[in-house]
Amino acid sequence: MRKSVISREQLTMFNTCKSIVLRDTEEYLSNVLGENIINLRQELKDDILSTTYLTHAIHNVYPAKFIPQVPRFVIKKFNLKGKIILDPFAGSGTTAVESLLTGNSNISNDVNPITKFLVEIKTLRFNPKDYFDYLDRLNYHVSSMAKNERPYIPRWGNLSYWYPADILTSLTKIWGYIHNIDEGEADIKNILKVSALYISRKYSYGEDESPKLFKSKHKTAKMKELLDKFHKLGEELLRAEILGKARQYLDCIVQFNYRMRPEYQRIYSFNKSREQFLLILNNSLEELGQEIPEETIDCIVTSPPYIYAQEYFRSTKIDMYWLDMVDDKSVRRLTKMEIGQKLKPISDLDSFLLKIEPYKNALRTIKKRSENFKTKENIPRFEAYFSDMLYFIRLSAQLLAKKGILAIFIGEPKVFGSPINVKDIISEMLTKNCFKLTDTLFDVIKSRHLLRNRLNENPNGILGEWLIIGEKL
Ligand SMILES: C[S@@+](CC[C@H](N)C(=O)[O-])C[C@H]1O[C@@H](n2cnc3c(N)ncnc32)[C@H](O)[C@@H]1O
Repeated sequence: MRKSVISREQLTMFNTCKSIVLRDTEEYLSNVLGENIINLRQELKDDILSTTYLTHAIHNVYPAKFIPQVPRFVIKKFNLKGKIILDPFAGSGTTAVESLLTGNSNISNDVNPITKFLVEIKTLRFNPKDYFDYLDRLNYHVSSMAKNERPYIPRWGNLSYWYPADILTSLTKIWGYIHNIDEGEADIKNILKVSALYISRKYSYGEDESPKLFKSKHKTAKMKELLDKFHKLGEELLRAEILGKARQYLDCIVQFNYRMRPEYQRIYSFNKSREQFLLILNNSLEELGQEIPEETIDCIVTSPPYIYAQEYFRSTKIDMYWLDMVDDKSVRRLTKMEIGQKLKPISDLDSFLLKIEPYKNALRTIKKRSENFKTKENIPRFEAYFSDMLYFIRLSAQLLAKKGILAIFIGEPKVFGSPINVKDIISEMLTKNCFKLTDTLFDVIKSRHLLRNRLNENPNGILGEWLIIGEKL
């Protein structure tokens, strides 16, 4: 991608250094962590050929999404089939795809409203016999976009900051057309929407190689090239890219359906049916506890937000504005609902937290290290994060059936220069809340789009992530 700034020789040197570092890192890790170290990609190399296989390739820019090997490993290890698997922080729906593919039911929940859209498209039921009809309809709609005069303008105050004016005019026309497609063609409409999301990121000033929305030098330079091309070819360029993406995504959906032999039913509220089902919820954790009856879930596999790495809404807002899911006000409201954002921890959880030794130690370190830090919210945010995590673990204990499995995939980013022992804190939270700890495995990171901010210094530089597994007693 950055060919213009890095020469071939530099790239070869970089790759050589990277592999030496990776080899040394793995050696170091295996000395320190011994048998706890695992390589999930390697472990499942015969089951999953690529992290973007089937519909996992669709909208592959969700922040901090985990690789499909994470849920697949848990499903395989515990031999889950015909079970109910819940992901309370479902994000882009990786667990949903893996649950359904392996013959399990799935409940996907997230406070982010985009989850429903993404899970629906990634698990779209489709009869391969309709393939050519779908292609015809996609062609028809994309060519009809040229005639559309009704633009869709996102309710986004900062819109013109992110786009050159003429690109914006074309995008608003394209989106105006898509939003007006009849709901009778909802599936086609959704395939076009997710394809238009791709070009709406690509042709913006926002860095599209990172989930977080920011202007980079690299992207500004790339935009110059893209704009030249756009000025030569006009709107036709954007339409051709949408069609290309739509065909690619349709192929992914066909392959998913081909592999997903037994058909699942889509349900809209909890019903412990024996049929395979998919339920997508847009709830807070508190609401989730009301929605799902106690002791009904067989397995929870999830990756909660990292400490100080919230801001999922800020990262996905570009997509949500175009999808007409949010406006400036609702983005701010939703952001406050994210884990670790409630700056007043619930009091009984707060006192319970102080019984967790690794938490107390980490809090002491953070307090000391943040003395010279100007921001006042560091400590309350730290406390709020773990208070929310404790709430989530207690909720899991409530929802899981006896012997149910809770698998948490999480990293230990550095805060003020020192790593937080998240694994030890979570492990103790499990054992103090009706779980037997069965595994703590460390998966070495190869690449993952993680969120980074001022406090959470280097999620991109962390060596790997923990898979912590508990069994409900
Ligand atoms: C690490 S991401 C999950 C990514 C997911 N595993 C995937 O593969 O796409 C964490 C998710 O937690 C969600 N989240 C944050 N706070 C939440 C809350 N209070 N309740 C439910 N979901 C929340 C975020 O919106 C985000 O999608």
